[in-house]
Amino acid sequence: MKFNLTDVQALIRARRSVRPEQFKSRKVHRDQIEALIEAANWAPTHGQTEPWRFKVFTGPALESLQLKLAEAYRRNSTELAYLQSKYDRIRDRHHCASAAILVYMKRQVSGKIPEVEEILAVGCAVQNMSLLATTYGMSLFWSSGSAVYEEQFAEEIGISKPDRILGVLYPGYPEGEWPEGKRQFWMTKVDWFAE
Ligand SMILES: Cc1cc2nc3c(=O)[nH]c(=O)nc-3n(C[C@H](O)[C@H](O)[C@H](O)COP(=O)(O)O)c2cc1C
Repeated sequence: MKFNLTDVQALIRARRSVRPEQFKSRKVHRDQIEALIEAANWAPTHGQTEPWRFKVFTGPALESLQLKLAEAYRRNSTELAYLQSKYDRIRDRHHCASAAILVYMKRQVSGKIPEVEEILAVGCAVQNMSLLATTYGMSLFWSSGSAVYEEQFAEEIGISKPDRILGVLYPGYPEGEWPEGKRQFWMTKVDWFAE
């Protein structure tokens, strides 16, 4: 198989996180979400556990998810840190995004594969999704935070330990120009050893 290296490098660099509040009103369709999840399914997996799982929310189910997330945010904020504007932004996200993909890690029953590796595999799955989304001109915004990791929220969604929610992904088409990415120079992050 042959791939155009320049295209692959350009795709990796082009992938961007854009907040749902900056999405166009253009809807994301079910067949596109299905394609993203099919791409996720090709992530590497130690021991063939394939631990990535998804719950997709649209319409009234999305509105109800956002309310649960907003309430979880309220429960997990100290009085000092709590912002009504943030609560409102989370609760109202269904007006900006047409779908949310909750992503979680399904723990292997035997627990033989270390949990960190299962979480990493889910991260790889999300990267597959994000790269494919980029080819559609979409961003897949990964939202996490204390609400997403809260036990009560997980229970409300029907997920229990040892499985773990890792985030909520919002696919959508960014309004305006495709944003530029920003990174520190890669060479500052590597040490080489030759002897
Ligand atoms: C595990 C994970 C969780 C993230 N959670 C959030 C989040 O809760 N809120 C947010 O604004 N961005 C979140 N992001 C996205 C980052 O903000 C984003 O990747 C970073 O700003 C770099 O921008 P880029 O993805 O466009 O290169 C998350 C990214 C990852 C990998």
